[in-house]
Amino acid sequence: MDNWAALRACKQASATRRITDLFDDPARAAEFSVTLSDAATGPVHFDYSKTNIDAETRAALIDLAEASGLESRRNAMFSGEKINVTEGRAVLHTALRNLDGSLEVEGEDVMPEVRATLARMESFARDLRDGRIRGAGGRITDVVNIGIGGSDLGPAMAAIALAPFHDGPRCHFVSNVDGAHIHDVLDGIDPETTLVIVASKTFTTVETMTNAETARAWMARTVRDPARQFVALSTAQDKTTAFGIDPARVFGFEDWVGGRYSMWGPIGLSLMIAIGPMNFHAFLKGASVMDQHFLTADLAQNMPVMLALVGVWHRQVLGYPTRAVLPYDQRLARLPAYLQQLEMESNGKRVAMDGSELEIPSGPVVFGEPGTNGQHAFYQLIHQGTDIVPCEFLLAAKSHEPALAHHHRLLAANCLAQAEALMTGRSLDEAKALMKAKGFKGAELTRQAKHRVFPGNRPSTTLVYPQLTPAMLGAIVALYEHRVFVEGVVLGINSFDQWGVELGKELAVQLLPMVDGSKPAEGRDGSTQALIAALREMGI
Ligand code: F6P
Repeated sequence: MDNWAALRACKQASATRRITDLFDDPARAAEFSVTLSDAATGPVHFDYSKTNIDAETRAALIDLAEASGLESRRNAMFSGEKINVTEGRAVLHTALRNLDGSLEVEGEDVMPEVRATLARMESFARDLRDGRIRGAGGRITDVVNIGIGGSDLGPAMAAIALAPFHDGPRCHFVSNVDGAHIHDVLDGIDPETTLVIVASKTFTTVETMTNAETARAWMARTVRDPARQFVALSTAQDKTTAFGIDPARVFGFEDWVGGRYSMWGPIGLSLMIAIGPMNFHAFLKGASVMDQHFLTADLAQNMPVMLALVGVWHRQVLGYPTRAVLPYDQRLARLPAYLQQLEMESNGKRVAMDGSELEIPSGPVVFGEPGTNGQHAFYQLIHQGTDIVPCEFLLAAKSHEPALAHHHRLLAANCLAQAEALMTGRSLDEAKALMKAKGFKGAELTRQAKHRVFPGNRPSTTLVYPQLTPAMLGAIVALYEHRVFVEGVVLGINSFDQWGVELGKELAVQLLPMVDGSKPAEGRDGSTQALIAALREMGI
């Protein structure tokens, strides 16, 4: 029996039991969880006991991972082999946070350059934070990071997550080409005390370049030499120079850092300016703790591996199409958006490495909101809808607001309550008893009770950690990065390209002259022609 057939048999067996049955084993919670403890991060505890995975299923999942060549693929990634085969590139974001030693790519040790760039970032960030790098109007008060996708979501998410550590200038993030975004950010800040960071791996992304030109024109209105207040983060120094940015203000990186994996290096500059180099180092350290764990722990005790295999069980074996990320941590409000790019751009693919079509589903749709907000929005469907949505809860033991500890306990109780409700549910008999106590009788009692049944048996995982610190955030993001990698290996796809974003970009270039009326909209489909006509009629 091949690995997938074994898992199909596990699926069949799981259909006849409820998750709650598995807790007949008093050791289940301990045995179906992984704890990683390190001085830099403190303990991180991942509980997957509230899933319908039993010991046999877990063994079959681990067999699948082994048969997929996980360990050799993982070692190939860390050692700089060109595992991104459709772009002919190595995948070495881990080198940006494992700073000791050497690492050869095409016969050259890449680490001295990585360390030198990090040192330049640190000295730039210190000079800016201490007021030695100034704008035309004096000390820099505001930093605007212009970038999109991986050049935005990482630092934007982390800047919110690490707000309690933010002691540098205010940081703003502009991504959307919609002029409303840059307008609203620039409105109310002073060009004479603003630093603009243009973050783009390729320095060709049309949204970013359009926003960068708008920011430069805005600054040029009052600042004689705007280039002095511009910085570029890019792999393309020829293009940053052509844009007029002083090479001394360019922080470069190599093509082996993928966009959505890039916040650990120069793309993290805005974050480093916000929280300071020491906290940024702690963030890198937390990620490197997770890297070492991923490299060395046995598969059954390996947190990224088990998080990934729970994902494979839910998506590829049981066929659930979505996955909800539910941080009970307001400052992780942008984590779901960050993970949407990380997971869906990496594993939203229908063709395997060898060009054949996948016979199993690709990665799931990822969505989420911080708890408790989501509870009052979409949890209705999660509890009583016809689809099963595996939920991933995240919760810190401590907030950064000791004076509001009672809020935090309420938050924690809500998180645990949701996971419990999803698993245990409420039976018709229980619902009937409730309605009877409220005075309902006969057919009306049954009808009312049916609406109040919770089927339960809905899976969730919970990640708990002491507090959201820079090191912990680094560990959590690296956990998800490696999870995506493991899922990609099991699927047999290349998680590191993103060809699916190209066609829309090409068509936008073709449609622009039709939208602005310089070219007729001939040859397009009927709907697009009609929409262009309607927009032109409305005065676009
Ligand atoms: O369009 C997709 C994408 O290439 C992402 O993968 C990337 O993070 C984003 O665009 C931004 O690219 P760049 O950093 O080159 O501007």
